[in-house]
Amino acid sequence: MAGVTEQAAQRLAHVPAYSPGRPSPGPMAGKLSSNEAPLGPSPAVRTALAAASGTVNRYPDQGRALAALATYLDMPTEQVILTNGSDELCYLVATVFLGPGRAAVVGQPCYQIDATASVLSGATVRAVPLRAGGHDLEAMAKACIGASVAWLPSPHNPTGVACHPLELEHFVAQVPEDCLVVLDEAYRAFADAELRPDIGRLLQRHPNVLVQRTLSKDWALAGLRTGYGLASRPLVQLLSRARPPFSVNSLALAAIEAGVASEQWRAMSVARVRQERARLEDALTMLEIEHFPSQANFVTARLDLDGFGPALAAGGIVVRSGADLGLPGWARISIGWAPQMAVLRSTLYSRLGAGATTDPGRTET
Ligand SMILES: Cc1ncc(COP(=O)(O)O)c(C=O)c1O
Repeated sequence: MAGVTEQAAQRLAHVPAYSPGRPSPGPMAGKLSSNEAPLGPSPAVRTALAAASGTVNRYPDQGRALAALATYLDMPTEQVILTNGSDELCYLVATVFLGPGRAAVVGQPCYQIDATASVLSGATVRAVPLRAGGHDLEAMAKACIGASVAWLPSPHNPTGVACHPLELEHFVAQVPEDCLVVLDEAYRAFADAELRPDIGRLLQRHPNVLVQRTLSKDWALAGLRTGYGLASRPLVQLLSRARPPFSVNSLALAAIEAGVASEQWRAMSVARVRQERARLEDALTMLEIEHFPSQANFVTARLDLDGFGPALAAGGIVVRSGADLGLPGWARISIGWAPQMAVLRSTLYSRLGAGATTDPGRTET
């Protein structure tokens, strides 16, 4: 009979281990492999974090932070659930809605944690190939028949492509009511305004929708592990029952409370990212390097890192290999500080540009 470890290994045989983005070979600013916020949190959040450090002997109390976030989002507190990174929400969803004999629908390639949480629960995964980097919503809606959860990051990771809100609304209307649609808006802040769905309306019309958000990207709190979900009251209650007590720590709660007032800081930070994203996309277009039109804080391009990786590393930069993300032959480039992005573009020009020496730059309109 197989021992305890062998038995577990058999059960997890199809669960890929998560490998985080590699650190930069030089200063951290060159780490363009994990879609982090280059600017960091606002001064007000930093001050609040320092002040909160004196009370970490107490268990966290999420009351004030939850109320502050709900007010900021214009949602009733009963429709908001705070989680330890938005990834925790994936595991809560899998625990509550999936399990042996159930099925989950994902795009292919998908955000890895969605598949991992589904498989760990014992559910099967129905993978629907992307079309031009975006979700094939017609095919996904068909796959949702008989499934319990549809995982839908928009903008998607690893491509950055966003669903149009009208198509999304049409999709959700087609999905059977007994299938939960998890709309993961990790990168919402970086998308064009017309590509950000009206969440209030969507939740009101469709009780089988859960909106997943993270504070790791535009809020720049990846290291504190904070995310949240928005859904109907009964759905939030169910998810809360599965959540471990105190899963969101005191420092994260302090950062939320202070962060709701840091909208201007975030807007400035997002604007910088969008500007650098546009510059990178211009460079890729000029060099005729295939890439997905990104609405996120990264751009995924067809780049052979065997050739490029060492040249980038020489400039202190590391990007994410598409091979880790289900896109072999591609690379996902997180948008960083302007100087690192300039190094990245000049590396591209010098290796591929064949005479194109001018960096076009671009100011976003
Ligand atoms: C689509 C998507 N969802 C969720 C997350 C996880 O965010 P968090 O740091 O809140 O766990 C990420 C992180 O990169 C992501 O790309």
